[in-house]
Amino acid sequence: KPTSPTGKTELLGTIGEDSRAQAGEFLTTAQGVRLPDTDHSLKAGRRGPTLLEDFHLREKITHFDHERIPERVVHARGAAAHGTFVANGRAASVTKAPFLAEKGRETPVFTRFSTVLGSRGSADTVRDTRGFAVKFYTAEGNVDLVGNNIPVFFIQDGIKFPDIIHAGKPHPDREIPQAQTAHDTFWDFVTLHTEATHHVLWAMSDRAIPRSYRTMEGFGVHTFRLVNADGETALVKFHWKPVAGVHSLVWEEAQITAGADPDFHRRDMADGIEAGAPLEYDLGIQVMPDTEDETFEGIDLLDPTKIVPEELAPVQIIGRLTLDRNPTNYFAETEQVAFHTGNLVPGIDVTNDPLMQARLFSYLDTQLTRLGGPNFTQLPVNRPHAPVNDMLRDGMHQTAIHQGQAPYLPNSVDQGLPRVATEEEGAYVHRPRHIEGEAVRANPVSFDDHFSQATLFYRSLSKVEQVHVVEAFTFELGKCYEQAIKERALSVLANVDEDLCVAVAAGLGLPAPKGKPAAEVVPSPALSQIPPGPGPIT
Ligand code: HEM
Repeated sequence: KPTSPTGKTELLGTIGEDSRAQAGEFLTTAQGVRLPDTDHSLKAGRRGPTLLEDFHLREKITHFDHERIPERVVHARGAAAHGTFVANGRAASVTKAPFLAEKGRETPVFTRFSTVLGSRGSADTVRDTRGFAVKFYTAEGNVDLVGNNIPVFFIQDGIKFPDIIHAGKPHPDREIPQAQTAHDTFWDFVTLHTEATHHVLWAMSDRAIPRSYRTMEGFGVHTFRLVNADGETALVKFHWKPVAGVHSLVWEEAQITAGADPDFHRRDMADGIEAGAPLEYDLGIQVMPDTEDETFEGIDLLDPTKIVPEELAPVQIIGRLTLDRNPTNYFAETEQVAFHTGNLVPGIDVTNDPLMQARLFSYLDTQLTRLGGPNFTQLPVNRPHAPVNDMLRDGMHQTAIHQGQAPYLPNSVDQGLPRVATEEEGAYVHRPRHIEGEAVRANPVSFDDHFSQATLFYRSLSKVEQVHVVEAFTFELGKCYEQAIKERALSVLANVDEDLCVAVAAGLGLPAPKGKPAAEVVPSPALSQIPPGPGPIT
């Protein structure tokens, strides 16, 4: 009876030359055959026709024809950098994950910043939420903190994600506008789904036009559950605080920059790193007790449209992220990196936030299509820096030659089998959590509060920041074709702040709902210099 070892993996390169190395003196075909000429196809006579037998022509063109992969369904435009995360040890009381808890522990990271709505070739400085996705290559396995630069989200349940994205992406008939919130379907959605109001206020603020990736905050958005070495749990929210401070462009700068240098943010990051000025962020956590109702000071911690004000739960810094190395190849690294909210290690667990639960399904699912099958964890940028022995086999783009005959456990055929680990040996054990109730398609009642934190946010802004919000609403809504959508938007704003509503109504030349008094905050003269949009604004 044959016996063989299992769980061992070798790369194809070990049984021949590794074509990925692109080594050797001569230009060759993909089969390693040296070529005499790569500029002229093989023709019957100098004037042709071209011969089908020209295997070099066919291979070269065929490979080129398949160079593109689908862009991400959202966050298609991005730029990334390598770096290191160093923990300061303060998180030890709340998590047993060594990369967060152990003082001085250094963990390599890859961070991708992105806009959400534009296509891969769109401009950097558009008004949009920014993605802030960090992959930690920890010794215990990969952890992804897939966050945004805005601490709340448009929707409370992931089942609406296709809808908000359909509404936010360019209209399907003309595919305009590119990467902008200035269009009917966006405003139609967010005014019909008023849970979006808080995120919309942030999106109309200066936060949605950052000066640089290095001056942008990041947020995990959802509440996570951390587990410490004693098995105690706490509910936390993650924050990235830029060491360079938070800075934004003003709208006119953002517009000019989008035209003059659509690569403004990625250029700024790459040039800065090359010049020896790394991007730096402190990682902080807000820690809330893990109570049965999962609320804190009356705030439902499972509602991703709500923040916890820092006055109520201060952000405690637990480590520093430094991004100091540019990718070598955009496609191999920035384009092929695959983040997933379900990439977690012991010490970090999820919550029942219904947006988070849908995300836990969505990322792996979309990557199966985007990256051509289930083996994208073998791509260099996605490989864990921890031993892998997963018994996953075959599939599209398999580059490993697995050994053995019996990829299952237990088996009595192969030698040197892996075994399952205990929690003490580092196994990821899902925290037992109490679940009860009837299957319903409904939200908790606390999710019905759509406006109080939008008001809180608007009133927390300085006067000049409020003016920018008024201008942004006026500009973006001014691009809508449908009067009814603008009017609905005003009736939503009336629930947020009366002065804001009246000022935007004045900017749009529409009556404010319920005839509210004139606003203190009025659009600045700069706004009148911005040409009206293409809509029927007469
Ligand atoms: C991509 C953040 C909600 C589905 C991304 C990326 C970020 C992000 C940063 C870009 C990752 C990269 O750089 O490669 C967020 C945040 C959310 C949120 C902070 C809410 C708090 C959702 C929801 C869904 C979703 C609710 C679906 C139910 C996706 C998909 C991608 C993506 C499909 C593309 C991933 C890929 O192709 O690799 N998201 N997202 N996201 N997100 Fe989300």
